[in-house]
Amino acid sequence: MYKNPSPVHLLFLLPAIALYHFTPQLIIHLSPLNTFIMGSTQPEFKNTATSTLLELVKGRRTYYDLKGESPVSDDVIDRIVQDSVLHVPSSFNTQTSRVVLLLKEEHKKVWDIAINALEGLVAAGHVPKEQFETSTKPKLNSFRAAYGTVLFFVDFESLAPMKEKFAIYADKFDPFAQESNAMSQYLVWIALQSEGFGANLQHYSPLIDEQIAKTWNIPASWKLDAQLVFGTPNSGPGEKAFAPIEDRYKVFGK
Ligand SMILES: Cc1cc2nc3c(=O)[nH]c(=O)nc-3n(C[C@H](O)[C@H](O)[C@H](O)COP(=O)(O)O)c2cc1C
Repeated sequence: MYKNPSPVHLLFLLPAIALYHFTPQLIIHLSPLNTFIMGSTQPEFKNTATSTLLELVKGRRTYYDLKGESPVSDDVIDRIVQDSVLHVPSSFNTQTSRVVLLLKEEHKKVWDIAINALEGLVAAGHVPKEQFETSTKPKLNSFRAAYGTVLFFVDFESLAPMKEKFAIYADKFDPFAQESNAMSQYLVWIALQSEGFGANLQHYSPLIDEQIAKTWNIPASWKLDAQLVFGTPNSGPGEKAFAPIEDRYKVFGK
């Protein structure tokens, strides 16, 4: 640990900080100097892809201020989403996640559906008109202004044979399916950000389910879980606070 830096360390500090800004990957491997700069021990990863992966994890944030432009081709987005559907694990390899990628005009339809549904609630007196006009509608329009939406569904019905076969796990299969779906959401979120998008995760189910199913002819067994909105960021994410890691993580036998 380098809590009290020696003059030699101070000598290296400024160039090291400059270096860190331009080559963060490299500095991770400049231990123990990096230990001093970052304030905690940085291990040397055997595979540089590990540090790249963790940098992507650290960099992923919620972006709300998005525009309807893409930094990459639609094929790139398509590949990211397809790979997540194919390769994200599921309990007993049940493969319960279902995903729909909507771009440009098709994406906008999702948020028109949400706006219409909310307007219905306002008309029925369930949502105050002022709250809708000043808060909800601008928020929904900001989603609409983005480039795409990924709809994540779970096919719970496909689990029926498994529930029968493994009766002891029967009540676990639905939560397992949701957990697997969340893994897909997280992977797509990180990969899209890695390609220059910003994204935010929304949950407008069951409000929008019927119209979503109708508009894209979604099978009845697909239950909508989340909507990942993405686009080119207009501005950065907000501040984020972290609870002390000591309260959330323990290690034994290190
Ligand atoms: C399971 C889950 C559900 C979330 N649901 C919503 C949501 O419905 N609407 C929203 O704006 N953000 C939603 N978020 C985003 C979180 O608010 C956000 O990830 C969290 O505040 C941390 O901020 P960060 O994403 O910038 O790290 C959700 C995130 C997770 C993991």
